[in-house]
Formats: sequence, structure tokens, C-alpha cells
Amino acid sequence: MNIHIHPTHEALSRHAAKLIIDILTQNPSAVLGLATGGTPKRTYELLVEDHRKNGTSYQSVTAYNLDEYLGIPAEHETSYKTYMKRTLFDHIDIEPSQCFIPDGMTDDADRECLDYEDIIDTNPADIQILGIGRNGHIGFNEPATSFDSLTHRIMLDEKTRHDNARYFSTLSDVPKEAITMGIKSIMKAKHILLIASGKAKAAAIKAMLEGPVTPACPASALRNHDHVTVLLDEEAANHIKEAT
Ligand code: PGA
Repeated sequence: MNIHIHPTHEALSRHAAKLIIDILTQNPSAVLGLATGGTPKRTYELLVEDHRKNGTSYQSVTAYNLDEYLGIPAEHETSYKTYMKRTLFDHIDIEPSQCFIPDGMTDDADRECLDYEDIIDTNPADIQILGIGRNGHIGFNEPATSFDSLTHRIMLDEKTRHDNARYFSTLSDVPKEAITMGIKSIMKAKHILLIASGKAKAAAIKAMLEGPVTPACPASALRNHDHVTVLLDEEAANHIKEAT
């Protein structure tokens, strides 16, 4: 694992954007595994800036996202599809038919999960971006999710629903279920890039890097992957030991 500690969220976002741009420069048909949330937002802004300034192209890129809420239409304000369009896809030259996000309105979630896993198997990610939850989740793989999990339907942890309530009018509007790539699906990526910022993430980062490798901390599974880059700001790195 390569761990880099940056002074600020801005600095780690610049590092993350550079890693992604370098991959696209070497391989214009790269496959990007994408995440939503507050942490990667600035990275996506920097990718848009680079696309405008330097013309980095996404025409041949395939992208898929980690997860989507169940029961929220794709065009709704709070869907992850809307987040991705507003933050990135609408501002770059990516082919919309090459951008995959689970269908939150599916009437056959099991079939949707199997089909999504097929997309991942056909297009292994050159780089998979991940945030981390305060409870150590990656994607929506909440604590106790099996390391062998593939794309599946999951009940959201109450901590996660509280953390995400900021995007909804009230806590009761936050969906209770989602479809998420499993931990095993995430581990299929060739390179995993986990980014974390702020003191609320410090305990989860410590558990991921220094605690036992256990489903109780889903992010600890990444210690079994041979190409992981972790970018932290100082606050998120605050609890880890010098030796780490
Ligand atoms: P955040 O979410 O980037 O909004 O903190 C990360 C996550 O829950 O995985």
C-alpha cells in the first residue's frame, strides 16, 4: 500500500486527479471505477478543468460507479446518476452509453446485480476510486459484509443514512437500501485509489490500516490487494502511527 499524507483536501484532490489523468494519457480507453460523495467532488472538478485546458479526452473511456440508492429515479436530485452527471459526465466528452450506474428503480434487483457484475468482469477497472465511511464502509459495503461479496442489494447502516441526510430534506427521505458493488467486485480493479479527508474519517482510517483485516471494517480488505494508493489529508491521518 502506498500511503500519502497531504496538508489539505485540495492537495490530495490534485494528487488524485493527476493519477487519473496519467492513466488516461497512457491509455485513452481506460476503465474508470468511480465513487460519489463529498471527498471526490474536487477531484472531478480538477478533471473537468484539465479536460477544458489540456483536452484530455474521455471519448473511449468506460466508467462505472460503485453504487446507487434503491427507490430513487435516475433523474432525481439525489440520485448518484444525477451527482455524476452534474459533477463530471456533463462536462467531459464521455459517451453516456459507456457510463454505468446501477438502476435504482429496477423491479428485479437480483438480475440488476448480476448484470452489473458482468459489466465489471467485461471491463476490469484500471483504477477504482473509493471514499471511506466513518464506519469503514467502501461503496455501500457496510460492516459485516463478506469479503466475497459481488454486486448486491444492501440495507444502509443508520450511521451512513445520517451522514448522507445532508443531501436530502429530512432523514426519513434517505433511502434505506441500495445496490452496491461488493468487496470482491471492488478488489477486481487493477489499482485502487482510496481518498479520505477530515477528522471524522481518522478512526476509520486507523482501523483500515492498523486494525485486524476483518469484515467489521470493510476497508481493511484492501490490505489483501497488491496495488492500493491511499491519499489522506492530515486530519484523516491524525490517528495513524508514524510506522504506518
Ligand atoms: P464522503 O463519503 O466522501 O461524502 O465522506 C464517503 C463514503 O461514505 O464512502
